[in-house]
Amino acid sequence: MNLFDTDFHCHILPGIDDGAADVEESIKLIQMQMAQGVRNIVATPHYRKHEMSVERFLKRRSAAYNKILNSRAFEKMPRIMLAAEIALEHNLCDTEGLELLANQRMNTLLLEIPYEGYRKWMSEEIEEIAYRTKKQIIIAHLDRYVDIFSSADYNDILNIPDAIFQFNTSVFTKWKTKKLLKPFIKDDYPVVFGTDCHNTSSRKPNFDIMVKQLKNYEPNYNVRMLFEQ
Ligand SMILES: [Fe+2]
Repeated sequence: MNLFDTDFHCHILPGIDDGAADVEESIKLIQMQMAQGVRNIVATPHYRKHEMSVERFLKRRSAAYNKILNSRAFEKMPRIMLAAEIALEHNLCDTEGLELLANQRMNTLLLEIPYEGYRKWMSEEIEEIAYRTKKQIIIAHLDRYVDIFSSADYNDILNIPDAIFQFNTSVFTKWKTKKLLKPFIKDDYPVVFGTDCHNTSSRKPNFDIMVKQLKNYEPNYNVRMLFEQ
């Protein structure tokens, strides 16, 4: 397991969110990921606090995962780690069982900052969640905010203690997002990648682009530690 064979963010579980619609699409997505070099998949369906309890979400997530297992579509399955992409909102830290949404193997929680202007409460909430759940926080797709966050906003986020920063592999397809990523790589920040794939057409996996672009890159120590657990 390493940075170059692990997809940290994707929506491959069938029928649970706006990702794979059914088990056939899940299988196709996993086959595409594997063809691109992925051997470890962190499945991260959307979790929104106001939509359902953690308990209900976990039941739905296991049912979706079991559909893939029962399909017996793979001679050799990739490792699938179950987790969630948790929408950040006020008082998310009070959610019962929030820590159960973590990738239990790596002890990480993937949080999605809302797509709106940055506000101070966001990093405060993230710090509180890290403190209460005792999980390491991964902040989802930092590249997505390139048009709405200022450098000062990004700096605030970079100062969240022990956070890991996830970029979508599509970061390499646009000049602007590539420029955003550059100092993270150069200055040895803890960075991980995810395809954030949802389907086999408009939002398909493109993991191979990252593998190609980051040849000879040595991941940050905190990132390497994730694979040792
Ligand atoms: Fe996502």
